[in-house]
Amino acid sequence: MIKISPSILSADFANLQRDIEAIATADYVHVDVMDGLFVPNISIGVPVVKSIKPVSKLPLDVHLMIQRPVRYVEQFCDAGGDVVTCHVEADTEEGIHEALDRIRAKGKRCGVVVKPKTPASTVLPFIDKCDMILVMTVEPGFGGQSFLFDQMDKVRRIRARLDEINPACDLEVDGGINAETAPVAIEAGANILVAGSAVFGKKDRRAAIAALRGQH
Ligand code: DX5
Ligand code: ZN
Repeated sequence: MIKISPSILSADFANLQRDIEAIATADYVHVDVMDGLFVPNISIGVPVVKSIKPVSKLPLDVHLMIQRPVRYVEQFCDAGGDVVTCHVEADTEEGIHEALDRIRAKGKRCGVVVKPKTPASTVLPFIDKCDMILVMTVEPGFGGQSFLFDQMDKVRRIRARLDEINPACDLEVDGGINAETAPVAIEAGANILVAGSAVFGKKDRRAAIAALRGQH
């Protein structure tokens, strides 16, 4: 079953409650956290996660695009993050292990993320303790970019490793997902799709979510 995680980066921040209520048929709420250092943009922080938690019954999928995430993972868990993911490029291997362990110790689900230029092999040291692997299909930092088809080989490789080592682990893709690219990512092995503009850029969010699931 394919799951949809709409990214509120493309929502109207002045009407966040209204926009989150409009995606109640999705499976997660994707929250993009950016520090202006790991990526050239600044977005949502801990207080916003805390505020949106009571607004939705959906689990919060918190994507941390921040340097040395170990410094903040516990705060994002306490604020209401249900799945918290960290970029493998954001710290040493040891630092990422420590971040994942702290998320787990909070009773939350954890995962790692890879940027487009980062090889699939970099997730291997973490694969057995992850609940989710996230493959970026755009350079992180901004919504509304075009899907990078050349990332599908990475998705296929990681899917093959997960099938062997950790089949319960979710494989998520993020960036440029729309009704045309969704089937490509699913065919390659993704089972959770993040979509910002393809959901919040549409008037009928319910129909947009259904279209990503392949329902017309
Ligand atoms: C990019 C973010 C994405 C982004 C996706 O750094 O991680 O979640 O919001 O936006 P779309 O779906 O518009 O590419
Ligand atoms: Zn994201």
